[in-house]
Amino acid sequence: MGLIFSQVFFGAVMTIHTMHIKLTPEDIQGARYAILPGDPGRVEKIAKKLERPKPLASSREYTSYLGFIKKVPIVVCSTGIGGPSTSICVEELAEIGVRTFIRVGTTGAIQPDIALGDMIIVNASLRLDGASGHFAPPEFPAVSDFFVTKALWEAAQQKGVRYHLGITASSDTFYPGQERYNTFSGRVASRFRGSMQEWQDLGVLNYEMESATLFTMCQTMRLRAGCIAGVVATRNQSESIQDGLYHQTVEHTVDLSIQALEKLIAAQT
Ligand code: URA
Repeated sequence: MGLIFSQVFFGAVMTIHTMHIKLTPEDIQGARYAILPGDPGRVEKIAKKLERPKPLASSREYTSYLGFIKKVPIVVCSTGIGGPSTSICVEELAEIGVRTFIRVGTTGAIQPDIALGDMIIVNASLRLDGASGHFAPPEFPAVSDFFVTKALWEAAQQKGVRYHLGITASSDTFYPGQERYNTFSGRVASRFRGSMQEWQDLGVLNYEMESATLFTMCQTMRLRAGCIAGVVATRNQSESIQDGLYHQTVEHTVDLSIQALEKLIAAQT
C-alpha cells in the first residue's frame, strides 16, 4: 500500500488523498466497480446516467464522479489518453478498493466489415504500448476478464446494436503506432510500416490506446477488466464521422457498460 498515508496530527487522523486521482476510500464509499472513459469531459455525462451522481475530484487528466446502481457505488474516472496515465488511474483506484474496471472509449476499425457507429468488445489486445511492459514480460497476454467481457457481450446482444468481439491493436501512439502517414513528418518507424496490413490479415479488429495496459496490469494483479469501444473512424473508408453519429456511438458504449455492470452486480460478482 504505497499511496495513501494516514497521519496523526495533534490527535486527529488525516487521510491523504491518492497522489494523482486525489481520492480517498471514504470518497468512493466502498466502490468496487469503475467505469473508465479516456476523456475527462465525458465523466459527468456518464455519471448522470447513474443514480445520485456526485462530483468527486478533478486533477490533471483525472476527473471523477461517484454514482450508484441499485445502491451499489460506482466510480467514474477518466484515464487520459494512453497507457501511462491509465496505469496510474487503475493503480490508485485499486489502492482505494476498486476491483472491476470497464473502459469505455472510441476506436478506429481496420476490418472492412466494421462500420462507423459499431461497437467493439475487446477480449484481448496486442501490446503495442510501453506501460504494460512495466507490469509483465512480453510473453504475458493482455487479456480481458471473461465475466466482464461476457456481461458486455450480453448487453450488446440485448440492446440490438451492431457489435464485434475480438482483438484490438492497442498502441501508445495515435499516429505512427497506428500507421498514419498524414502527419507533420510523414514518417512511420520501420517497425510499424506495413503493420496495419499485417494486423488486418491476422484478423485484428481495430486500434485504440489503453486496453493493453489495462488488461495486462489487471490480469497480473488479480483485478478484472473489460473494454468496449465505439467505432469513430474506419481506416479503410473514413477518418471522419458526423457529430450526431459520434454522440450516438459514445452513448451506446456508455449504456452498454452500465448494463454490463448491472449484470455483474446482479450476479454478485
Ligand atoms: N482512437 C484511436 O486510438 N484510433 C482511432 O483511429 C480512433 C480513436
